Amino acid sequence: MSNNNLISASEACELLSISPDTFRRLVRTNSITTIPDPTDARVKLYDRDLIIGLKRPAMTISTRHKVITLSNNKGGVSKTTSAISLAAEAAKEGLQVLLIDAAPQASATISLYESEKEIKENELLLGWLKGNVSFEELIKPIVFEKFKIDFIASGSKNDQIDRSNPLEVVPALREFFDSWEDSPYDYIFIDTDPSFGTLVSMAQVGSHFVLCPVQADVLSVDGTAQLSRQLQRARILTRSPFPALLGFFLSRFDSRRRVCKEALETLKAAYPDYVLQTVIPDNVRVMESPAQKAPINLTAPDSKGALAYQSLWQEVRERVERSITTNS
Ligand SMILES: Nc1ncnc2c1ncn2[C@@H]1O[C@H](COP(=O)(O)OP(=O)(O)OP(=O)(O)O)[C@@H](O)[C@H]1O
Ligand SMILES: [Mg+2]
Repeated sequence: MSNNNLISASEACELLSISPDTFRRLVRTNSITTIPDPTDARVKLYDRDLIIGLKRPAMTISTRHKVITLSNNKGGVSKTTSAISLAAEAAKEGLQVLLIDAAPQASATISLYESEKEIKENELLLGWLKGNVSFEELIKPIVFEKFKIDFIASGSKNDQIDRSNPLEVVPALREFFDSWEDSPYDYIFIDTDPSFGTLVSMAQVGSHFVLCPVQADVLSVDGTAQLSRQLQRARILTRSPFPALLGFFLSRFDSRRRVCKEALETLKAAYPDYVLQTVIPDNVRVMESPAQKAPINLTAPDSKGALAYQSLWQEVRERVERSITTNS
């Protein structure tokens, strides 16, 4: 084999310390592309960096914070609702939480801030990338009755990030988070737009984990495979196991509709290890929450939506803690 960066299936199994069956499953669920051996087209080879990126057990995080981005290229699948609800659950447990709105459409910002005036006063990621403000200056606490969430607001001006210096900007958050030694946060959540823009790449590359809400009636396994490929490319850039796929979960689930149950089965068949057990029901209280400018665990704590997000958070936290070791 002439190219050192290409390895065979058996070398990959050895590298990952897994059986050929498990390897085949990993290849399928992560949509890993194979390259025919130039000397024998029947033999399939694999990119060594991609395979190393799959190495799960030894994922070490050296900072206090664990960064989770909510991402899906499809619109309206509950990314924003989930980012706010999970951040609020973590904060309710007494963890230190930062929520970053990295979506120029700024739904999280609009859902949490009372007035336009308040929104306009915020510094945006754009200002930080231009060097006008420090990262810490972007952070504003939002104090609720039982907990606080530190927050970085967004606005339509952030759209400029997608249009200028894209390549330079992509690793910016990653570099900052990796070197943020006195970070006061346990968890950082990032909300993204449904796009393939620079901001989404910047958020993914800056994350340890990506969590993907999937809406049952717009389910497309093609779409989820696209996300897996995006994360593989991001791991090549970071030369690390991050960003790792934390998992998919179904949002706006209606158990009376067959399409919802079918969607769940399809997803589980395609990603046996990556479908979270919690499903978020379609719940009117969740839909009403943004108008009340507070997360669902405060606006309707006993609602089915709030209880589902509580259980989703427990699952997310367990998955994160199971897959990493920390130096802190
Ligand atoms: N579980 C739910 N039950 C009922 N309505 C919900 C639920 N989750 C989200 N919604 C509503 O669905 C709409 C889309 O949700 P949300 O804004 O969270 O999706 P998104 O993925 O962030 O969208 P975008 O791609 O535009 O950023 C919102 O009006 C929201 O209030
Ligand atoms: Mg959104």
